[in-house]
Amino acid sequence: MNPNEDLIEAALQVQLNSRSKYSGFSVGCAIRLAAGDVYTGCNIESVSFGLSNCAERVAIGVLISAGVDPSLVSEILVVGPDLVDCTPCGACRQVLSELVPHATIWFRHGGQWVSRNVLDLMPDALEASLKTFE
Ligand code: THU
Repeated sequence: MNPNEDLIEAALQVQLNSRSKYSGFSVGCAIRLAAGDVYTGCNIESVSFGLSNCAERVAIGVLISAGVDPSLVSEILVVGPDLVDCTPCGACRQVLSELVPHATIWFRHGGQWVSRNVLDLMPDALEASLKTFE
């Protein structure tokens, strides 16, 4: 199965804003709510490479900053340059598993679209319900 064209288009559009001169790898992410609204983000890199932000975490930050409850998210889509394979990194898997565990995520892998449940990408994730944070 493939994602809807409009979500791909939204991710490709925001990908144009990517600041990725260190890796040369521009990424766009589009997040759709069950109600249909779409929020987007691109990767933003720093000369201190480790401070770079992935498109997925930027997009979820945009959505949360806009006051949207992340439990309303239904699907997330991520695209790399020219639709090359681009799977979410471990840091994004952790963050998404905390904020949108129920969501479906679309990405390119093996030259095709793959959809997964966010939690399936991060088995045994560190949980925000740990006693220390109650
Ligand atoms: N990147 C993302 O934004 N999302 C992904 O799913 C994979 C990687 C970014 C991080 C870095 O700016 C560049 O792509 C190369 O790894």
